[in-house]
Order: sequence, then structure tokens, then C-alpha cells
Amino acid sequence: MSGIVESIKEELLKRCDAYNEKYGYDFWNDHIKYVVKNSVELAKKYDVDVEIVELGALLHDIAMPSEIGPREEHNVYGAKIADELLTELNYPEDKKERVKECVLRHRGSKKLPRNTIEEQCVADADVIAHFDCIPSLF
Ligand SMILES: [Fe+2]
Ligand SMILES: [Fe+2]
Repeated sequence: MSGIVESIKEELLKRCDAYNEKYGYDFWNDHIKYVVKNSVELAKKYDVDVEIVELGALLHDIAMPSEIGPREEHNVYGAKIADELLTELNYPEDKKERVKECVLRHRGSKKLPRNTIEEQCVADADVIAHFDCIPSLF
């Protein structure tokens, strides 16, 4: 796991813990960790950039535990949060855009086209994760 992935994971866990304390739902343990695990497996299988996919998976639902924006647009707000966090960490611009697209396009229900295999890995990992943990259908 690279430094940037560690930093993003740390920030995500902080937000998930705060949300869990408030509402008793653990986004990390009940959903996001499965998406991360599945997406990394898919990225390796399709031989695409594991770091981009892992960051996309970590950030894909971050708007919800952050309580930023309406849930129906958590992909849009998530992409904004991803931009802020990755900019703060000086992540290269081109890679940042690829991570943001993974976040924006992860939702099967929104009929957003996936333009890259990286985006498809995060979207598919999200769907598979709902079978790992059925109560987390968003
Ligand atoms: Fe989502
Ligand atoms: Fe999700």
C-alpha cells in the first residue's frame, strides 16, 4: 500500500468512525473495506493501475460518512471531496482526474457510462460488495 493510499485511508477511517459514533453505522467495516478488497483484485486481474483503483474505491462513498451533499448525489460530492484531499496531498493532476472519474461513475443506478477499466473495477467491486454485506445497498 503506497503512502497516498495510507493517507487517504486514514482520513476516510476518521470520517467513518465519527459517523459510526453518531449514527451506529460503520461504512468502513460494513461496506467500503469490501469494495477496496474487491476492486484491488479486479485491478490486478485486468492489469490496470492498482493505486488509482484502490483510491477510487476508498473514496467512492466518502460523501456519505462525511455528511456532505444529498445521498442521491454522493458520487458527485464524493468526486469533489476526492479532489480536495488529493490536491492537499499533492497527487499528480492526471492521476487525480482518473480517481475522481472512478468516484463519479461508480453508481450502477445512475446509468453513467464507464470510460475506463479502472472505473469499471470500482463500479463492479461496489456491486460485488453488496453481496459480501447485504444490508449496505445504496
Ligand atoms: Fe455509492
Ligand atoms: Fe458503495
